[in-house]
Amino acid sequence: MDQNASTNVLYDVTDRIAWVTINRPDKLNALNRATVLAIAGAARRAASDPEVGVIVLTGAGGKAFVAGADIAEMAALGPHEAQSFAHELNDGLGTLEGSPKPVLAAVNGFALGGGCELAMACHVRIAADTAKFGQPEVGLGLIPGAGGTQRLQRLVGRGRALDLILTGDMIDAAEALRIGLVERVVPAGELRGVVSEYAKKLLSKGPLALTRALDAVLSGGEMALPEALRLEASLFGLCFATEDMREGTRAFVEKRKPRFPGR
Ligand code: COA
Repeated sequence: MDQNASTNVLYDVTDRIAWVTINRPDKLNALNRATVLAIAGAARRAASDPEVGVIVLTGAGGKAFVAGADIAEMAALGPHEAQSFAHELNDGLGTLEGSPKPVLAAVNGFALGGGCELAMACHVRIAADTAKFGQPEVGLGLIPGAGGTQRLQRLVGRGRALDLILTGDMIDAAEALRIGLVERVVPAGELRGVVSEYAKKLLSKGPLALTRALDAVLSGGEMALPEALRLEASLFGLCFATEDMREGTRAFVEKRKPRFPGR
């Protein structure tokens, strides 16, 4: 396994899947500044690597995805440093969310605070049945600072977001599934296999179509409907300029599996 800019994040490509593993298991993979920068670096590396089609984020060790921003590191920050830390978090998570390749969160344990926010910046979340979610910041006299006040309400609705943010309560994976915070819950021992299979399904689709679908949903989701529909129409039209689209439609007519060239 190759190690990225820092040993805090491991980077391994297997079968066109880039596994990005946050690797501070003794601190439940808490996000210090170096780790945030390394995650952003890994996301950029995977985005530009032609051998990678899907990116998966997960946590090292059996216990945590990410148990939050590093509280010990944050305790020493002043307001301006904290603000720039929040900007670094937003840049790092924004790099993941803006990735032209699908980013999956394989949530293998605690996803609290910055860990829940990191999972929410991924495009699809698949959780172990042992995972726990929450935004416990108010218990530390803080508020979520990596998009939690925004992405959570967009995913689960304002009332449920406020319920989680104001109480700081942890919820289990079943409840996270029920409220729409995750898309799948699987037995913990099957998480890696299920995520690999899910990634393989995406790898069998037109890669340029995946990129345009991400753009339409993510960019369009922040626009008024008429603008968003115009964006969708443009991206739909652009698909017709690709060899992928010619191959996909031809393969359907010829009753065979498509072999997308990614052009
Ligand atoms: N930042 C820094 N260190 C953290 C951390 C965080 N967010 N979360 C856990 N750790 C560290 C602990 O300090 C401990 O380190 P130590 O062994 O050097 O003392 C180690 O990780 C293991 O954590 P511990 O609390 O002993 O595990 P636990 O099983 O008893 O509890 C949690 C697990 C997740 C409930 C608990 O660690 C926790 O509440 N973490 C903070 C969650 C949080 O508030 N996140 C939002 C931050 S903004």
